[in-house]
Amino acid sequence: MLKGKCAVITGSTRGIGKAIAIKYASLGCNIVINYRSEKDEVNAYKLSEEIGKLGVDTLIVKANVADFEEAKNIVEKTKEKFGKVDILVNNAGITKDNLILRMNESDFDSVINVNLKGSFNCLKAVTPIMLKQKHGKIINMASVVGVIGNPGQVNYCASKAGVIGMTKSLAKELGGKNINVNAIAPGFIDTDMTKVLSEDQKKNILSQVPLKRLGLVSDVANVAAFLASEDSDYITGQVIHVDGGMAM
Ligand SMILES: NC(=O)c1ccc[n+]([C@@H]2O[C@H](COP(=O)([O-])OP(=O)(O)OC[C@H]3O[C@@H](n4cnc5c(N)ncnc54)[C@H](O)[C@@H]3O)[C@@H](O)[C@H]2O)c1
Repeated sequence: MLKGKCAVITGSTRGIGKAIAIKYASLGCNIVINYRSEKDEVNAYKLSEEIGKLGVDTLIVKANVADFEEAKNIVEKTKEKFGKVDILVNNAGITKDNLILRMNESDFDSVINVNLKGSFNCLKAVTPIMLKQKHGKIINMASVVGVIGNPGQVNYCASKAGVIGMTKSLAKELGGKNINVNAIAPGFIDTDMTKVLSEDQKKNILSQVPLKRLGLVSDVANVAAFLASEDSDYITGQVIHVDGGMAM
């Protein structure tokens, strides 16, 4: 389904990003693995080895997406190696939760800088290439809480609501150029990001999920594969909820 394509997936050494990388590779897509910190370096090489066994090529780029030049470098290195960028998945994201009375300015800034500005940085770098090649699929990772809000997450919810606005604007800008821009809004997915939740918090969340379970990374990766494929060619500017029915 994605044979011979090339996808940049930010923050792809674990969690949802890693699941998307493996899913895409299983469909024949070459993968650019991005990681930020030294502790993820081993995971990046392990993932590259795992994906290599599926018969696709990989490139590993260490970069902090919040840094404009570093984000640009991911895309430049991709172009150098593969000659194109068919798919961009803006997946890298962080949380720094607190109630507003205790949330400090740097907690707000860092979440916005990674989740929202980081996505912008990669979009800015990839757009000229996609325009020139006259095709592209962009998938931005939003969140259900960017739509419905969540106490203790004003920074994170603002960043994800911003990602949704950016997705819709860019979809309108690039629609005539054969470039699809969509967002996925996962609900609560079982990853390192949600491991920090207490049992009480998980119970409370599950009471709001009609499908009565946390999501799996594969639930998100399957939708990301659809949005990267030609099966979704007539879909743009959408926010696809993968949240067990939390928001409807
Ligand atoms: N897990 C959930 O329940 C959930 C729900 C909704 C949305 N999301 C979103 O899905 C995406 C993936 O989340 P996850 O649960 O897999 O989280 P995770 O913490 O397991 O993984 C996040 C990845 O992003 C990378 N990253 C963080 N900051 C970075 C930076 N500045 N530059 C490059 N990489 C960076 C991390 O190294 C890691 O690989 C995030 O955007 C997150 O906000 C997750």
